[in-house]
Amino acid sequence: MTIEVKFVPSNRRFELQGNDTILEAALRAGLSPNYGCSNGNCGRCLAKVVNGSTARVRHHDYVPTAAEKAAGVVLMCAYTAHSDLQLEVLEADSPDDIPVQDIPARCKKKHHPTDDIAVVRVQTPRTQRLRFLSGQRVVLSLRGGIQGEYPIASCPCDDRNLEFHVHRGDNNAASRHIHSRLSPGDHLHVHGPTGGLSWHTPNAQPVVFVSCDVGFAAIKSLIEYAINIEWEGPMTLLCFGAPGAAHYMDNLARSWNDVLDNFSYRSSLLTVDPRHACEKLDEELRSSVHSELLADADLHHADVYISAPGPTACALQTQFLTHGIEATRLWTDICS
Ligand code: FES
Repeated sequence: MTIEVKFVPSNRRFELQGNDTILEAALRAGLSPNYGCSNGNCGRCLAKVVNGSTARVRHHDYVPTAAEKAAGVVLMCAYTAHSDLQLEVLEADSPDDIPVQDIPARCKKKHHPTDDIAVVRVQTPRTQRLRFLSGQRVVLSLRGGIQGEYPIASCPCDDRNLEFHVHRGDNNAASRHIHSRLSPGDHLHVHGPTGGLSWHTPNAQPVVFVSCDVGFAAIKSLIEYAINIEWEGPMTLLCFGAPGAAHYMDNLARSWNDVLDNFSYRSSLLTVDPRHACEKLDEELRSSVHSELLADADLHHADVYISAPGPTACALQTQFLTHGIEATRLWTDICS
């Protein structure tokens, strides 16, 4: 049976199925309610039932106070809905509403899709999950006090399993450590979230995503968010690959293109290093942006999200602004 849950005062609605907790269903639907541990310990997911019935489906150690009980609250991470439900909930509307967290974690998996890129999966304890918005960044603290800031490449709906894409930067201690030393089982700390891109697009507005190299991480998180909320507007992804190889997540982008009716994937290989500004880089970006995106008049009113190394991000921004895309509808994140 499918049940509809409505959060007030935002009036955001989502469906809940089976014995899913209210929190699980809300995160899967792309909502950002207030919560902490996801595990019945902290009490931060308390919400007041306005109408409808609930039932406990998970154990919780948190004991609501007499005043909370009298107010008719439930823990969203431990309760499901047994009828259509209306709940009074605090929600995050912007990255500023998400508290900075410091969470111990372990490296779960690492692989190298190319010599220059490591994809790292990190898992937090069951009782301490990371609350974040799609496209945000965190600082990873590694052995020996080494730190590096990276966008989270995964969706906020899986707040325990975090993915990062790290470029091999010989001048960067964190990326050197991640590429050559970090192994599954190693301990690290996750601190954040700390800004980054976040979703701003209203209604069914067309969206253009442009990524280059590991800039794909932040864009992947945004696209997975859009898929989760069943975004109905047209989405176009243009990926620039570094010289000499297809884009490292070409297969994933192609699978979105195959499965989603409103998704279109284009790719372009650069012949020069996207981390070094030069006329040839500007020219290759200009040519691809024009032929793949700006030639399509429907995309002239799109919201544009860019994530790329600095020189490439700046050149892309210039291309879109020169072509009349409004600065207020253009968001850029620079990856290292
Ligand atoms: S999130 Fe901590 S008790 Fe629900």
